[in-house]
Amino acid sequence: MRLISSRSIRDGVELARDVVAGPPGTAPLLRAGVRLSERYVGLLTRSGIGSVWIEDELGADLEIAEPLTAETRGKVHRATGEALREASAALRSGSGMPNAVVDSLAGVAEAMVGDLLDVPDAALVLEDLHSFDSYTHRHSVQVTVLGLLIARRIWSQDGWTDFRGNRRRDRLEGRLRKLGLGLLIHDVGKLAVPPEVLNKPGVLTPEEMAVMRTHPDAGVELLRGAGLSPLVLSVVRDHHERPDGSGYPRGFEGRLVQEFPRIAAVADVYDAVTSERVYKPAGSPAVGVRVIREGAGGQFCEDVVRHFSAIVMPYPVGRELALPDGRTAVVSRVDPGSPDTPTVRLLEDGSITELVVDMSDGGEGNRTPTSAVQRPRAPITTTPPEGVSA
Ligand SMILES: [Fe+2]
Repeated sequence: MRLISSRSIRDGVELARDVVAGPPGTAPLLRAGVRLSERYVGLLTRSGIGSVWIEDELGADLEIAEPLTAETRGKVHRATGEALREASAALRSGSGMPNAVVDSLAGVAEAMVGDLLDVPDAALVLEDLHSFDSYTHRHSVQVTVLGLLIARRIWSQDGWTDFRGNRRRDRLEGRLRKLGLGLLIHDVGKLAVPPEVLNKPGVLTPEEMAVMRTHPDAGVELLRGAGLSPLVLSVVRDHHERPDGSGYPRGFEGRLVQEFPRIAAVADVYDAVTSERVYKPAGSPAVGVRVIREGAGGQFCEDVVRHFSAIVMPYPVGRELALPDGRTAVVSRVDPGSPDTPTVRLLEDGSITELVVDMSDGGEGNRTPTSAVQRPRAPITTTPPEGVSA
């Protein structure tokens, strides 16, 4: 299967995955297997669905791993939606977040960790979860998935350091659950930011920016009394702090920014860059990866970026890619060791060609590669390429 823009749907293409526009568990807008036509373009774009998975010759035998099971996605949707509603009510009444809501989110974090422990590292598709109610809602879940995958790789490969400075490899799941809970609620303080500032289509004034920058502390205030671990709260309070001191609200530097918020920062920025907002279109994965790579050692912790780069590919399998000569190809294989030279497929004179494209000087993500290198054609096989989970 492969991912195409909803706007490029042509008559007769087969939908490979259900299109969900409401909460998980409700009937999908369109079911896998249905034949699409150009008249669906309007329906999909009006529903905020920018891309769909289709089955065709170019996408044949490309298997794409989904990080969460349908059951977990339903659970995540219900609990996080409820938590946001409760948090809004708590803000209006001046009370704290009810403990029952925090407990339910802890259960969600546990289910997500359980699913993600089984997912292979690389070549994942970090999908846009269209069905969530609001940007804050969707963003929280997507950041949690990515942050947990990064942390799983860091802690299983390098271990973690406890408060005595000892390197440890135990209690991995418990640590992931704490991080997952922190990531799910990292932006809860945004509910205290007026919607006209939060959703402003344009650059914020200095006064509006000052209001925006209160959201980490507003989140901590809302969660006071919930009995949360300092590790969980460090994500809420410090996810906008940066090791080079350029962050907010306190401008912490170096090791004052702890490991949990360092991981959260990378996941948060990648998702913000690659998500569509009222004031900007979604950046491609290549643009998101470039922003994170360029921040390594300054805005972002180098170790976290190294592990992120082994998980998030700039040219993920199944995605369309514009070649320098204007032809459109589909990424069919990517080696995490050389992520900027994906193997792509394209249709030429009725037959499928595979070639390796060097995008390392791509600059503009998947729009303007400076060179394309033809390699011997690989036969199309029915086994998933290496590094892609079945
Ligand atoms: Fe934030």
